Amino acid sequence: MATEKKPILNELFESRNSYIEKAEKIKKEDFIKTIKSRRSVRNYNQEPVIEKHMKECLELALLAPNSSNLQPWEFFWVKSKENKKKIISYCLGQPAASTAQELVVAVARPDYWKVNQKRMLKLIDEMGEKAPKSIKKYYGVIVPLAYNQGLFSIRGYIKKLAMELRGIKKPTPREPYNKRGMAIWAHKSTALACENLMLSLRAYGYDSCPMEGIDSKRIKKLLGLRNPAEISMVISAGKRAINGVYGKQVRFNSSYFIHEI
Ligand SMILES: Cc1cc2nc3c(=O)[nH]c(=O)nc-3n(C[C@H](O)[C@H](O)[C@H](O)COP(=O)(O)O)c2cc1C
Repeated sequence: MATEKKPILNELFESRNSYIEKAEKIKKEDFIKTIKSRRSVRNYNQEPVIEKHMKECLELALLAPNSSNLQPWEFFWVKSKENKKKIISYCLGQPAASTAQELVVAVARPDYWKVNQKRMLKLIDEMGEKAPKSIKKYYGVIVPLAYNQGLFSIRGYIKKLAMELRGIKKPTPREPYNKRGMAIWAHKSTALACENLMLSLRAYGYDSCPMEGIDSKRIKKLLGLRNPAEISMVISAGKRAINGVYGKQVRFNSSYFIHEI
């Protein structure tokens, strides 16, 4: 009798897991309040952001879910007066930057798949016998297969071809397979961390504004970053001035966006 082949990730993620982490109870009202009161603030007052709070919010940003736990991001907290002045001008002088108490540049790092794969393999090594085989296989074999696109993405395109063929008959993992795909890959996770940062700031009593109206090239130069690093956004922080929010929050009818299938 022919044995049926398992789907591609089934074996890897199959749960023979003995680790238990109970789901914490949350007061949803406070969470909803945090989400609903987060607005993009374009004018801040003079109140500083307490350094410890800023640090804690940045740490919370790093708890965002991220692809393969490869953490493809960096956050540059702009502290020196000189750099702040430069970043404000690279944010094209917009008030969300010029009136802010703090500025953070969020950077997507497609290349961190490799940097953090190595860190992860080291961690796994240190775990010794306790490390599940599936984790070793995931970071040692699957991760390079998925994220190493090779010189000029040649590996990526070969993979794409192989996956297209495989995909004719069965569900198959596909992207990323080139530089653009890797940039999208890193930006997805970085943006989630940015949202964590902005919601954390709100929960700590502060406000924020994400900005992509920026000169990314100049910012990269200032930070000493080279390709494939990409600026995801600049996030400003502080406390809203009385007229800090420009108008009521507008969203189109949710039926345009939420679909039940
Ligand atoms: C990726 C991204 C880039 C943005 N860039 C800017 C910007 O450069 N300047 C600005 O004032 N607001 C910027 N915003 C804020 C949006 O305009 C704002 O989120 C939107 O109008 C909805 O308003 P709300 O955030 O108050 O709900 C950006 C938001 C996102 C998510």
